[in-house]
Amino acid sequence: MTFFAPAGRGLSGTLAAPPDKSISHRAALLAAMTSDPVEVTGYLDAEDTRSTLSAVQALGAIVEERAGGLLVRGTGLRAAAQPTGVIDVGNAGTLLRLLPGWLAGQADGMWILDGDESIRRRPVDRVATPLRRMGAQLEAREDRFAPLTIRGARLAGTDYELPVASAQVKSCVLFAGLLASGVTRVREPAPSRDHTERMLIQAGARVERDGPVLTVHPQDELELDRFDVPGDPSSIAFHAAAAMVVPGSRLVLEGVGVNWTRVGFLRIAQRMGAVVVGPLEPPQSGIPAEEPIAELDVAQAALGATTVEPEEVPLAIDELPLVALLGCFAEGETVVRGAEELRVKETDRIATVVEGLRGLGAEIEATEDGFAVTGTGGLRGGTLEAHGDHRLAMLGAVAGLASREGVEVAGMEAAAVSYPGFTADLGRLL
Ligand code: S3P
Repeated sequence: MTFFAPAGRGLSGTLAAPPDKSISHRAALLAAMTSDPVEVTGYLDAEDTRSTLSAVQALGAIVEERAGGLLVRGTGLRAAAQPTGVIDVGNAGTLLRLLPGWLAGQADGMWILDGDESIRRRPVDRVATPLRRMGAQLEAREDRFAPLTIRGARLAGTDYELPVASAQVKSCVLFAGLLASGVTRVREPAPSRDHTERMLIQAGARVERDGPVLTVHPQDELELDRFDVPGDPSSIAFHAAAAMVVPGSRLVLEGVGVNWTRVGFLRIAQRMGAVVVGPLEPPQSGIPAEEPIAELDVAQAALGATTVEPEEVPLAIDELPLVALLGCFAEGETVVRGAEELRVKETDRIATVVEGLRGLGAEIEATEDGFAVTGTGGLRGGTLEAHGDHRLAMLGAVAGLASREGVEVAGMEAAAVSYPGFTADLGRLL
């Protein structure tokens, strides 16, 4: 489906943030691991999070749709069922990386995870390595890609140093740690999103943070009645970015999750001069049990270039394409460093963002670990190909509003992976 985003249209009005994708995946998985029913309010209804519901149903959970959310009747921590067929994770990288942590600790079970063409290009050795070390057996195509076969075992706790700051790998090891004998420690090279830790604490698990090291203790059962899913800061970042660059824009964003490990993009934008007013959570040293929610005001302002340093990257990883867009409008050269992880997202997002924005008139260069963009005060417009990547499709649409000629996005339907209401919400704000 092609979508045409018209030029120079400011955004104004109020937008309720759609539910958080990362937290929805985790809520469904943790509810499936709990034996008492768990109510999940505000579960995201999108392609990726529907894949997670199908997966937990295949593993024996019963999911009832209710007004405003779901009721999930899980199997308990050690009773995941064994379906006859392959578990299809679709396009959902978070499901592909988190689920093996739970399955690896189910002694004597065997599961195969597979997904779409894009998921088959995304590495799973990053979760296979720590899970093997804990005692499970995993096999992957070329030892690196889905289909991924997991043979569960009685796991032993481990000390694992993550080679890259990845919340998905961290979460996978924490899940396995719940089922292991002894404690499991995970060391992060830099902070990454901490929803799993917060949610495990809400579910009564013993998880502690000491600087970069997380410790999880074995658990008999998880105990919780409900999860409330906050609004997704990554989804509203697209409308926010448009409002930052299109003259005359003024937006109110409601119900936004402002967990400090998720709002790196808003901090970077503020540093560039963007007007973002509202209480962003300050950095935390421990693990808060709650997810903070806030209302944010965003308005257009003149921007200056910035350099995004490697330690900021995990806190803004899904929004770095939008840093490139802001860079097109900022005075000077905006540089992102230490972001090689972008190469293993739904697409190689260094290549696709650079190619996409350059096609619209941007002065942008790829580097090995990021990109550099020189602000020219605007964008011409043209056509951007989404390559099946939801965040690229949404980038193209907001680039169109900010451009002189508008942008035609080829493959806009990809947005449905995380934000099916994206174009409708955008239309309401124009
Ligand atoms: C996610 C973590 C990030 C992010 C992805 C969602 C999560 O991936 O890019 O969209 O929900 O944990 P990595 O952990 O691989 O950086």
